[in-house]
Amino acid sequence: MKTEQAKPTIREIYSAKQIQDRIKELGAEISKEYKTLERPVVIGVMKGAFCFLADLVRNIQCNDPLQIEFVRLASYGSATESSGTVQTPYLDLPNIIGRNILVVEDIIDSGRTAKFFMDYLRDQFSPKTLKMAVFLDKPSRRIAKQNADFVGFTIDDLFVVGYGLDFAEQYRELPYLGELNNDTN
Ligand code: IMP
Ligand code: MG
Repeated sequence: MKTEQAKPTIREIYSAKQIQDRIKELGAEISKEYKTLERPVVIGVMKGAFCFLADLVRNIQCNDPLQIEFVRLASYGSATESSGTVQTPYLDLPNIIGRNILVVEDIIDSGRTAKFFMDYLRDQFSPKTLKMAVFLDKPSRRIAKQNADFVGFTIDDLFVVGYGLDFAEQYRELPYLGELNNDTN
């Protein structure tokens, strides 16, 4: 028999419109720096960055075309707390030695995933430049010494879903960002 469970509620923090407006600004900021850089490579970290990357790259103007790559990293299981170790379910990049690399992440929380990946890229590819753009920053939770160069929104210590971010693989499709209130989290 199915037991009754409290339905999670989602409180909107940033609307779809607020997100799109901010991404236009962020795209302009990134364009200023990347306009004249040679053959920039944008690396999206799946799954969480898929919405942000898709919108962001369409707001970046560079003289050279962008190359877009993806990796998949994970540090959260289905819980709302970081597992502490970074897993690499998909880490298959072409030869991007010495290139101008921009990493695009959904959120920098403890900073462990970001630090792991930035160190990995530096070590493997000696990039000419290496920067990171994140949709969200939760600075109050930082453990690893790693910050982002471009930040969409800085948020408090809340568990958020939508616009690519999930709770147990749910809610990534929401066009807005919301705080998840769930008895089990
Ligand atoms: P970090 O390694 O602790 O910085 O965690 C980064 C990853 O944790 C992100 O790429 C997200 O997948 C996940 N994460 C952290 N905070 C949240 C949140 O509030 N909602 C959904 N996922 C989150
Ligand atoms: Mg996640």
